[in-house]
Amino acid sequence: MSTLQSSLLMCPLARPWTRRGNNRGLQQVLTNITYWRCSSAGDGGRFMAEIAGLGKGSTGTGRRAAVAAKHEEEGTDDEWLMYLKPAKLEVFHHLEPWAEANVVPLLKPAEVAWQPTDLLPDLASLGADGFHAACSDITARAAGLPDAHLVCLVGNMVTEEALPTYQSIPNRFEGVRDLTGSSGTAWARWIRGWSAEENRHGDVLNRYLFLSGRVDMRQVERTIHNLINSGMVMNAARSPYHGFIYVAFQERATSISHGNTARRAKEHGDMALARICGAIAADEKRHELAYTRIVGKLFKIDPDGAVRALAYMMRLRIVMPASLVTDGRDDDLFAHYAAVAQQAGIYTASDYRSVLEHLIKQWGVEELVAGELSDEGRRARDYVCALPRKIRRLEEKANLRNGRKAQPMTPVSFSWIVDRPINITIG
Ligand SMILES: [Fe+2]
Ligand SMILES: [Fe+2]
Repeated sequence: MSTLQSSLLMCPLARPWTRRGNNRGLQQVLTNITYWRCSSAGDGGRFMAEIAGLGKGSTGTGRRAAVAAKHEEEGTDDEWLMYLKPAKLEVFHHLEPWAEANVVPLLKPAEVAWQPTDLLPDLASLGADGFHAACSDITARAAGLPDAHLVCLVGNMVTEEALPTYQSIPNRFEGVRDLTGSSGTAWARWIRGWSAEENRHGDVLNRYLFLSGRVDMRQVERTIHNLINSGMVMNAARSPYHGFIYVAFQERATSISHGNTARRAKEHGDMALARICGAIAADEKRHELAYTRIVGKLFKIDPDGAVRALAYMMRLRIVMPASLVTDGRDDDLFAHYAAVAQQAGIYTASDYRSVLEHLIKQWGVEELVAGELSDEGRRARDYVCALPRKIRRLEEKANLRNGRKAQPMTPVSFSWIVDRPINITIG
């Protein structure tokens, strides 16, 4: 799992900044709907303020997030804590045979799954000369990749490499977590099997980037270290309803990001990278299917609970798992990375909206019958269904503004690519 994603600038540090009206551009649609580091990098002041109004929640820096999480644990947020009541969690106990039949089979066993060695030069099978020739070919083809593409690739790789954090996430979901570390329940086996599949993503991208010779591997490794150390922000972390919604969204977003990276690599003649990213994107698609299926089942058996959880997550925004990323040099690394991804078309604000539209359709949110919902459930359904149109309108307005007046470009250095600068829009 990985990719740029969402949350909003609802932290106190961000609000005065948006009120000042720093105007930066559509790139920040992404960062708006992405976790914002509460500093001033990136664009989209006006649009950011507008889209911020679509949500109610708040996220912030790592320290603020930790404080927010503490408040959640203290029970200040009844809206999601009610999902931890035994009656709600019982649903997952009853669903276990269903998960065994409909979710676990989506995993690919090690015997048939691709492995990083299948996609990169292998000394044991090629011999010394063949191996060196294949490595030289990787390096030569990677030389044609634009720096912006490389930054997106490193961002995706770093995100994937923080897998220890992600395996711990579903193991927070009450009712499904792996209680012993080797539990035989369908839910626990899915979590471990999913993690094993994800493990290959960071591995293969890491090895590719090592062979490319285009990046400062020590800085990249330091970033991975920092990211695992920082953890991640995921609202309502212990509720399986909210958690599965979060992961379904993330898997689809990740598939889009890796898929776009594969297409760009092909355009630049790097077929090895195209194959790698294509294989990862296909995995993410399969994972998306699993999590979308689980949430779809929740919508069938508990539509009120499911739609309220969805509205809750969308109000607080789906926060990108790498939102706390830092390389020890750039305080606004995540915002800069998000801006590059937006400009390079690897993951954009429109993608965020399209993921939401897709999930609304998959889960039949618009078709939910009012009689099956509580007052709060009806409000949640209406909020969620109206959200894509609101985001689309804001995108159009931002595009119009940017069309009238070109946004200034500023060179920003990325330590990942040996401090080479990339021009991005910063107010
Ligand atoms: Fe995945
Ligand atoms: Fe992944």
